[in-house]
Amino acid sequence: MAEHEASAVKKVGILTAGGDSPGLNATIRGFGKAAIGRYGMELVGFRDGIRGLAENRFVPLDSKALSGILTVGGTILGTSRDKVHRMEVDGEIRDMRETIAENLKAEGIDALVVLGGGGSQKNAMRLAKVGVNVIHLPKTIDNDVAGTDATFGFTTALEIATDAIDRLHSTAHSHHRIIVAEIMGHKAGWLALGAGIAGGADVILIPEIPYDIEKVVATINRRVERGTSFSVVAVAEGAMDTDDARAMANAQALLDGASTPEAKAAAKAHKAALETAHRENTFMLARKLEEATGMEARVTILGYVQRGGTPCGVDRLLATRLGAAAADAAAAGHFGVMVASKGDGTELVPLENVAGVLKTVPLDHPWIKAAREVGTALGD
Ligand code: F6P
Repeated sequence: MAEHEASAVKKVGILTAGGDSPGLNATIRGFGKAAIGRYGMELVGFRDGIRGLAENRFVPLDSKALSGILTVGGTILGTSRDKVHRMEVDGEIRDMRETIAENLKAEGIDALVVLGGGGSQKNAMRLAKVGVNVIHLPKTIDNDVAGTDATFGFTTALEIATDAIDRLHSTAHSHHRIIVAEIMGHKAGWLALGAGIAGGADVILIPEIPYDIEKVVATINRRVERGTSFSVVAVAEGAMDTDDARAMANAQALLDGASTPEAKAAAKAHKAALETAHRENTFMLARKLEEATGMEARVTILGYVQRGGTPCGVDRLLATRLGAAAADAAAAGHFGVMVASKGDGTELVPLENVAGVLKTVPLDHPWIKAAREVGTALGD
């Protein structure tokens, strides 16, 4: 039998939760190879994220199962967007935390590794509070997890969105059109900003900077006056004009201040209605630009193509580093933490320091400065 290094855990479960992201399988592989090969742990994978965890659905993951998945997109385990403390089960909303903790104990699973973004990090912390030995690894194409330099999936999505903007340039140019490209990111604009800069978009609109439509129109008209008869606008899903941003902030304030269940329900419904209306934002923006400039405008929603397919080299490297470091953390008995990327290395960050904290783009971030310096309009 092969010699293994000492480990605080013998049997460990892993799951992928939230929206899928390139690099999930590379991370499962990175963790699994180190956990099994170096520490001799037994590994199981829960199906369909938190849903499968609550339903105790898992499969054994041996070395063979980890082979050949480094480059595979999506997640071999499946995923879901469930919450451990409010999950729909048999038609009712239930708190599954105790059930999950009991199941893990009954199966002899000493620790749980959760691959996910901000929502999954909150789930991980909720489980830690009921005694589960949990380790979180930061995944998301949105790059919005606080306390880590990077999240796997982001760089791949950045490459995909940048390539799309490149391609949209040539068609915008040929037809003398405005092309509005919608890029993922409801609350944080990292992807739209990064891909917009890398792809040379003329206007970049992100949630952190409410835009003034008149200023966007002026940018496009100025380009036409200078002899450039096309414009590419990169807009994040969650970007809003100043009026909508104000209305949304008021709705949030109403919700935060609601003191009765009735007031809370009404405020929630009001905010949800605004969010629903906002789903059409990119199309409305294109229509307004068309009306104001007299140019033709077209919309391209990049959508799920940004999350699909094989991870790029940078994400495979990050995934492998984080996965291997998580195996070290589990073996050393460090739980209730996120394995964060810091420079070339990793750091264990207590979940209570980061869970629920969204990393948005700071207004003085170097990317914003660089965009402005090269003359990219940010709508403000
Ligand atoms: O959280 C990642 C993300 O891709 C966001 O950028 C996007 O807004 C959202 O997921 C879409 O979620 P869903 O998969 O539930 O449609």
